[in-house]
Amino acid sequence: MTLIEALYPALKPLLFRLDAERAHTLTVKMMIMAHKLGMLKSVAPSKTLQPRQVMGLTFPNVIGLAAGMDKSASAVEAWGALGLGAVEVGTLTPRPQPGNAKPRLFRLPEHEALINRMGFNNPGIQSAVEKLKHRRTKAVVGVNIGKNFDTPNENAVSDYLICLKAAYAVADYIAVNISSPNTKGLRDLQAEDAMRTLISALKQEQAVQKQALGKTVPLLVKIAPDLNEMQIEALARVFNEQDIDGVIATNTTIERSAVAGHALANEAGGLSGAPVRVRSTQVLQAFRMLLKQDIPIIGVGGILCGSDAAEKMQAGAALVQLYSGLVYRGPALVREVLEKIG
Ligand SMILES: Cc1cc2nc3c(=O)[nH]c(=O)nc-3n(C[C@H](O)[C@H](O)[C@H](O)COP(=O)(O)O)c2cc1C
Repeated sequence: MTLIEALYPALKPLLFRLDAERAHTLTVKMMIMAHKLGMLKSVAPSKTLQPRQVMGLTFPNVIGLAAGMDKSASAVEAWGALGLGAVEVGTLTPRPQPGNAKPRLFRLPEHEALINRMGFNNPGIQSAVEKLKHRRTKAVVGVNIGKNFDTPNENAVSDYLICLKAAYAVADYIAVNISSPNTKGLRDLQAEDAMRTLISALKQEQAVQKQALGKTVPLLVKIAPDLNEMQIEALARVFNEQDIDGVIATNTTIERSAVAGHALANEAGGLSGAPVRVRSTQVLQAFRMLLKQDIPIIGVGGILCGSDAAEKMQAGAALVQLYSGLVYRGPALVREVLEKIG
């Protein structure tokens, strides 16, 4: 066992005594420091890794960091050193914004779950772009983009275009987040017509940028798990027709049945971790059946162990991402997943 894997079980109870957001901030700072001291290198999984070609990109391995863990792109080198094959930074919006009032992140350890209503707290797209100009990690870096909370939905396309143009030169892929439950009205952009308008504008801009910069940056859409069958069919229709480059399934859920009765169950926000796993996999599977075969899906939601990741791959995922599992299981989860599906 490596140093950081050995340390996490001892650190976890201390971190869990702190407010969840403070623990998160502290963990990221510790990661950056551990990386600077060369302490993360040894964590890189010992197994021979199998790079994957997906969307024309070479992913050093199948596991990525899900959006929200590194909203400001301040620790990409450290995440890469931890053995992750991809790091999705953001969500980033055109202008910096503070997010919702604290507390806005809650742990439900009995369910290995989190509830968050962060509300896209981020330093703005330009700040992240500056940081990414200097990146050296071999991990694929995705930039997850959104709209400012005070931009009305009628003007949402313009916010996404600002972010796409700003990020194009430094991103390996761009993820369009229309599925966070914490920005009022955002999920309405998943309606068929709104989605068609948004994606067609972004695909057109992608073509312009490709011509200007001479590189193709794939465009993915991140969807919610709280979609019914008709909504899934409508979205799949738009994705097929617009030749979207990939889909990320899924974001957090507003469903609470799996945690009913818990003291924090009624906190507003998105629920992640173990309780979202099954629904998330069902939505992934439904999209896999409906999407053209050359549109890959990244599976995320409730991966807490190697077999959860294998379940996503069996459901049709090309790659997977982790968030809540890293909080509950620590960096050992990266090795475990790689040993199972890497
Ligand atoms: C605290 C927190 C913040 C998040 N922030 C974002 C975000 O800014 N953008 C986004 O697309 N997803 C965000 N997510 C969703 C995750 O990327 C992921 O889709 C979701 O948590 C399900 O995966 P998990 O069960 O492994 O956590 C956030 C999740 C958490 C727990």
